[in-house]
Amino acid sequence: MGEEAAPRASNPVTRELPVTHDIQMPGYTITISPGILETAGMFVHAATQGHRYAVISDLAVAARYGTPLLASFPPGEAHLFTFAGGEPAKTRDTWARLTDEMAEAGLGRDAVVVALGGGIACDLAGFVAATFMRGIPVAHVPTTLLAMVDASIGGKTGVDIPSGKNLVGAFHQPAAVIVDPLCLATLPANELRAGMAEVLKHGVIADALFFERTVAALPALYAHDGAASLAMIETLRRAIAIKCDVVRRDEREGGLRHVLNFGHTIAHAIELVSHFAVPHGEAVAIGMVVEARIGEALGVTEATTADRIERALRAAGLPTTRPAHLGPGAVLAATRLDKKARSGAVRYALPTRIGEMSPGDGLWSVPVPDEVVLASLGTA
Ligand SMILES: NC(=O)c1ccc[n+]([C@@H]2O[C@H](COP(=O)([O-])OP(=O)(O)OC[C@H]3O[C@@H](n4cnc5c(N)ncnc54)[C@H](O)[C@@H]3O)[C@@H](O)[C@H]2O)c1
Ligand SMILES: [Zn+2]
Repeated sequence: MGEEAAPRASNPVTRELPVTHDIQMPGYTITISPGILETAGMFVHAATQGHRYAVISDLAVAARYGTPLLASFPPGEAHLFTFAGGEPAKTRDTWARLTDEMAEAGLGRDAVVVALGGGIACDLAGFVAATFMRGIPVAHVPTTLLAMVDASIGGKTGVDIPSGKNLVGAFHQPAAVIVDPLCLATLPANELRAGMAEVLKHGVIADALFFERTVAALPALYAHDGAASLAMIETLRRAIAIKCDVVRRDEREGGLRHVLNFGHTIAHAIELVSHFAVPHGEAVAIGMVVEARIGEALGVTEATTADRIERALRAAGLPTTRPAHLGPGAVLAATRLDKKARSGAVRYALPTRIGEMSPGDGLWSVPVPDEVVLASLGTA
């Protein structure tokens, strides 16, 4: 699975370019390389041929990585636009301010947006790019593990509105994705763990060996110098390749892409009921265990799968049980508010075993009766 090219060494003309690991998507390349942030501008320019670059980043990431990224573009070509971090900033108001500032700075159709940061920067900057001047290219420079393996790939962009998360947005595929694992050295430990929940999810949906390897590599990945480790490059390559493979086969979420939703029906419900006090990565970890139990109860999922997933997530420092104060009834009710829920029984993307998802009736999801959800929430 995945179309990974062999590592590309610097060529004689551009000797200063680092050795990279490339994953090819239709229309763009994902380039993974430790230290690539320092030359990211060259890669973005080669991919987009832009004339001016709007780097969009939250204040904290801009303070750490804004200067080296801006310096990788020719002098005067890149401009920094910032927003206060956090999910509350992923709004139409922030989108409006950023697009106003870009217009006031004289950026036009030949400009390119560069999203620098976590999933929030990717979603927000991607939506700015999808709409500014009716659409200009976006390049992603993800700095969280979650953004590297998930949010920067696939072209989903958008903002939150009072009725729910990500309800206004657009599909806008990036022109380039530049992944520098060294950025993870400064990522808070809880954010690294949150990304690891999604990495392990990619193992469950597509690659049992990768799942086991990731669990075995956790001490190296979480070590002080984990961001610079070979294990981190290998983990990123495979986790990204899995997401790419799914997206490549189902760009607009017609069917197969539902497998990426494993753990997320319950996760979104837990986030909602807790008023987002439970962070997404932790909710996904709990959701994966509950949904694997649902699969086992229905006979869709091989026995012991939920226990194996639970052990892996615990090893990754993630919670695996529903917080006691979030009642099963409330969580069940909240699954019905998920925008992906259809009428009737809510559909779940369920594994048949670690490494393989159930095709269901072609929709890559299975309708689950309420009592099975309740029972699985009760025991998890
Ligand atoms: N578009 C998609 O396909 C997709 C997929 C998954 C998630 N998402 C979205 O992603 C968002 C969550 O993304 P996230 O978890 O990356 O959150 P985030 O963007 O808020 O980043 C988390 C925190 O880490 C800080 N940070 C980022 N990189 C850092 C670094 N290298 N060093 C130190 N601090 C750093 C940020 O300032 C922020 O405080 C959600 O809004 C979610 O909806 C989108
Ligand atoms: Zn997720």
